[in-house]
Amino acid sequence: MGMFEVVVSTVLTALWLMLPAYLANILPVFVGGGTPIDFGRKWKDGKPILGPGKTWRGLLLAPLLAALLTALLRWLVQETAWGTYQPWSTWGPSGWWFVIAYAMGFGALVGDAVKSFFKRRTGRDRGEKWPFFDQLDFVVGALVFAFLAASLLWALGLVVPHLFFTDFTWPRILVLVVLTPGLHLLVNILGYKLGLKDVPW
Ligand code: CTP
Ligand code: MG
Repeated sequence: MGMFEVVVSTVLTALWLMLPAYLANILPVFVGGGTPIDFGRKWKDGKPILGPGKTWRGLLLAPLLAALLTALLRWLVQETAWGTYQPWSTWGPSGWWFVIAYAMGFGALVGDAVKSFFKRRTGRDRGEKWPFFDQLDFVVGALVFAFLAASLLWALGLVVPHLFFTDFTWPRILVLVVLTPGLHLLVNILGYKLGLKDVPW
């Protein structure tokens, strides 16, 4: 493989691995709402703990739908000629990857909620922009939870080798950190133009 193919393959694999987190981060716009995670309570500073933009439905339902959608896409890829294309060959043969996929989506939204906590503490209102934190919160959360879930499966002897280390190599993590802010911005501008979001970030 030449240099160009290596870069393309690394980028595609990284994005493919992150799919459950990307989907989980987008889906609350459609399936979120209802009871807020902080039940509308306020912190000592008189501002919302997390704010009304962070709801239980978003936190719990979006990761499940994201993992199911990822399962569907994985199945489609495997059933078609694309199945032999090397960049898609991740997560190993075991069905346990689904646990990691859910954990990644959940981690993405935990990261997003933790970000909102600090957003409120620093005086930023719901929906106000906070560059780089808004774009990378869910990447950090998803990676931490992918690591935890893969560690658990590995420690229980269910999935060997440790899928986090086989799949999330340093070059792929670098690709995710570099490309995600731009992708996030693009998707949000699209969501804004389509009238799904109030603000383009
Ligand atoms: N959402 C949700 N539950 C979550 C996360 C998001 O219901 N756990 C929904 C909310 O309707 C939210 C929308 O998805 O307004 C967009 O999410 P996001 O941009 O993360 O929230 P913001 O409203 O911008 O709030 P914050 O300033 O706290 O990030
Ligand atoms: Mg926002």
